[in-house]
Amino acid sequence: MTKEESNFGLSQSERTRLLDRLKGSLAGAVKRPAPLSAISKDPWEAFAQSDSCRQMDIIRRASAILGIDNPYFRVHDGIAGPETVIDGKSYLNFSSYNYLGFNGHPRVVAAAKAAIDRYGTSCSASRLVAGERPLHRELEERLARLHKTEDCVAFVSGHATNVTVIGNLLGKADLILCDSAIHNSIQQGAQLAGARRLVFPHNDVAAAERLLAEHRARCGNALVAVEGHYSMDGDVPDLPAFSALARRHGAWLLVDEAHALGVLGARGRGTAEHFGLDGSAADLWMGTLSKTFAGCGGYMACRHRVAEFLRYSSPGFVYSVGIPPPVAAAACAALDLLLEEPERVAALNANAQAFLDGARAAGLDTGSSQGFAIVPIMLGSSIAAARLSAALFRRGINVQPILYPAVPERAARLRFFLSSEHRREQIDTTLAIVTEETAKVRALKVDFAAVAAMLSR
Ligand SMILES: Cc1ncc(COP(=O)(O)O)c(C=O)c1O
Repeated sequence: MTKEESNFGLSQSERTRLLDRLKGSLAGAVKRPAPLSAISKDPWEAFAQSDSCRQMDIIRRASAILGIDNPYFRVHDGIAGPETVIDGKSYLNFSSYNYLGFNGHPRVVAAAKAAIDRYGTSCSASRLVAGERPLHRELEERLARLHKTEDCVAFVSGHATNVTVIGNLLGKADLILCDSAIHNSIQQGAQLAGARRLVFPHNDVAAAERLLAEHRARCGNALVAVEGHYSMDGDVPDLPAFSALARRHGAWLLVDEAHALGVLGARGRGTAEHFGLDGSAADLWMGTLSKTFAGCGGYMACRHRVAEFLRYSSPGFVYSVGIPPPVAAAACAALDLLLEEPERVAALNANAQAFLDGARAAGLDTGSSQGFAIVPIMLGSSIAAARLSAALFRRGINVQPILYPAVPERAARLRFFLSSEHRREQIDTTLAIVTEETAKVRALKVDFAAVAAMLSR
């Protein structure tokens, strides 16, 4: 990331001026080494003065000065589908991963209710020690069949799946190679593993090859991690090339299918189906139950020996509760629906393609989206993205901005998630409003000097 990218849209000199003023106004609070008696008895004081805390305060106060409402933690009154109700008002919704409309589907709801009646709402403890329910195994068997792998292990959280599996399978002597756009859960897993971490530019197989050629031989195990369908950009890696690369260098390939399941491939079976490959194309197929599968949790589909190892040794499995029975039942029902109704996948992709084509025709920057389910509108500034999201919300459209530091500042954007349930007129209306509001937001100038002056007061 360049210096400018980490400046929230401020130039270097504006940032320096802003920080100088803040330093001045906060000078009294800066701590020097002090005798024990002088240390505050409030254990949170140093925390409140930390850079991260102060940075968050600056963002909050700057948003208030610029009149940008907080777009986060909105409370939905019901199922968030193509429409949603927030605070009693109905919105067109592009902020849900309910890609195929399975969340709230009568069969999924009925399966969850039946599981509650039989097993209750929780399994209360780790499956290893306290035992499992038939639903856990059913879910894992179905997911293994879907990915054409020998086995699968399901965990209670998608994020924790990547963290605990990568942290467990790799160690200090190993190498982890990640795409620069890889999800935070994989970065966290790599950090936990303590392995040598290298990043290659987004989707750049040749760069990954160069890194492996240079570093592979000095490490024990090696892992290459990619997403099957990138959650920020909506593009797809060249899986055949990554698969061949991993094979050439004796590395494991992990493909995170969080946004690929239900989305890619004619029947929604993910990236392997999209490329006409089978389960052997990767070593670890990671997925989440929270998106297409209308539940919560994650899984690794892999060979049996690896799955058994994970069941007995991954801290996030061994020391954490099993997936609640109604959630496992909901995911199983959603999986059945996926297999029975592939027309939902076709509807999703037609909607996403229509959104992408319409946005491009209107001159909006959609980055590298391939039009499967995720279409970003690139704004290039966190302030512009936050302003556009707020303007759209006022006009009845719920879509989240993605701001620095989730992405580099120049890559700040709005991210639209399409579903099979959106209607074409909803897409057309949304694009017309987005085009209009984008032009207005782009015309607004930010007086950074005035903002800095107000912040330092
Ligand atoms: C690519 C990717 N992997 C993993 C996760 C974590 O999944 P979950 O939200 O189900 O914990 C997400 C979440 O959005 C994701 O986008």
